[in-house]
Amino acid sequence: MTIETITGAVNGLNGTLTIPGDKSISHRAVLFASIARGTSRIRGFLKGEDCLSTIRCMKQLGVHIEEEQDEITVEGKGLKGLSEPVEVLYAGNSGTTVRLLSGILAGMDFHSVLTGDASICRRPMSRVTGPLKQMGARIDGRDEGNLTPLSIRGGGLRGIHYSSPVASAQVKSAVLLAGLYARGQTNVTEPFVSRDHTERMLKAFGAEVNADPENRRVTVEGGAHLEGRNIQVPGDISSAAFFIAAALMTPGSDLVLKNVGMNPTRSGIIDVVRDMGGDLEISRLREENGEPVADLRVKYSKLHGTEIGGEMIPRLIDEIPVLSVLAAQAEGKTVIRDAAELKVKETNRIDTMVSQLVSLGADAKATEDGMVIHGGSVLSGGAVSSFHDHRVGMSLGLCGLVSKEPVTVRDAEACEVSYPGFFEELRRIKS
Ligand code: S3P
Repeated sequence: MTIETITGAVNGLNGTLTIPGDKSISHRAVLFASIARGTSRIRGFLKGEDCLSTIRCMKQLGVHIEEEQDEITVEGKGLKGLSEPVEVLYAGNSGTTVRLLSGILAGMDFHSVLTGDASICRRPMSRVTGPLKQMGARIDGRDEGNLTPLSIRGGGLRGIHYSSPVASAQVKSAVLLAGLYARGQTNVTEPFVSRDHTERMLKAFGAEVNADPENRRVTVEGGAHLEGRNIQVPGDISSAAFFIAAALMTPGSDLVLKNVGMNPTRSGIIDVVRDMGGDLEISRLREENGEPVADLRVKYSKLHGTEIGGEMIPRLIDEIPVLSVLAAQAEGKTVIRDAAELKVKETNRIDTMVSQLVSLGADAKATEDGMVIHGGSVLSGGAVSSFHDHRVGMSLGLCGLVSKEPVTVRDAEACEVSYPGFFEELRRIKS
C-alpha cells in the first residue's frame, strides 16, 4: 500500500507539462495492430498498468511486441492469426482490455479464458457478452456470463444490428470488432454518441467503417483486412483534467499543458469548466493521425456551480470524479445527473467520491444517477482512500492543494493504472 500526501500550494501551479498518452487510444493501437497485417509502430503509447495488461494479453495470444523507450513495435498477425492461449488471459484492472478483447476473441475459432483483478470481477460483462452471443460466439462466465472469468469459444459469427441500451464505447467497440469477423454487416446504435476512437482508428487501419453520428450509429463490413501503420498517440484529456482542475482551483496558478487530445467525444470537460467560469485557452489546435490535439493554458479562476446531464455525460464520464472536486470549490450548487454508469466503473464513483469528499469537509450528496454538491466549503484535509480506483485517488489528492491540513491518499499506487508518476508531476509544478 502506497501513501501520498499533498500539502497546500502557496504560489499555485506553474510551468509546463506534457500529458502522457491517451489510455483508450493506446489500448486500441495495440489491439488493432495485433490483428493487422505487417508491422505497426506506436509512439506516445501510455505505459500505464492498464495498457501494459493489453500488451501482456496480446503476447499470450502469440503477437510479437517490442517495448522500447518511446516506441512500441507490433508485428501484426492478421485478422485470424492469433493463437490459442495456454494460460488464462489476465487483464488486471482494465475494463477496456476485457471488453474490447472479448470482441476480438469472439471472432477466433479457439478457446480462451479472460479475467482480471477484484474490481474487474465485480463489473458487468453481459453488456458485451450479450450481443457477442447473439452474433454466434459461445461465452460463459459466473452469473450466466455476466462476470469474469469469461470462457470464450468464438468463430462462425454473423452480423447483427445492435441497439445498445447504454452509451458505452467499450460495448460499441467490442461489437464492431466482432463485426470484422462476421458474415455481412454489423451496426451499433447507442443512446448518445460515446468516444469514437475505434471508428477513427479502424478506418485508418483500412477497415470499412461508416459512422453516422446524427443517428448515433456505426456500421462495419465483415471480412475486412487491416494493414499495419504508424500511430502517434495524443495526450490523454482525462489525465489533463486533473491538472486543469488543479490549476483552476489553486490561487496563483498559470499552467501550460502540452499535447492534449481534443476529440469532441472526449472534450466535455473543456466546455463545462469554461461554463463554470474557468480561464482556459486552447492553442496550436492540429490533427495528428485523425485525432485533434492542442496545447492548453489554464489559470486560477473564480468558478461557479453548474448542471450537467444528457449527452454531455459520455463526453466527460471519466472526468466526473475530478469535476466533483472542482464543484466543491466553486461558488453555489452543482448538479450532475444521468450518470448512473459511474456506479459500474472501477468503483461506484458516485459513492466513493461523495463519501471521501464529505470526510474532507465538503457538502456533497449522492443521488440515484449522480450527485449534488454545494461548493465553497473550506476543506479540512485528512486521510482518504482511493479504494483502488486511479481516478478517485488522483481527484482526492488535489484536495490537499486547498485544504487547511494536508490530504493523505491511501492505496495511491492505483494511480499507476492511467498516470504513472502523477504525484511526482504534481509536486514538480507546485510551489
Ligand atoms: C473507455 C470507455 C469508457 C471509459 C473507460 C474507457 C474506452 O467506458 O469510462 O475509461 O476506452 O472505450 P464505457 O465504454 O463503459 O463507458
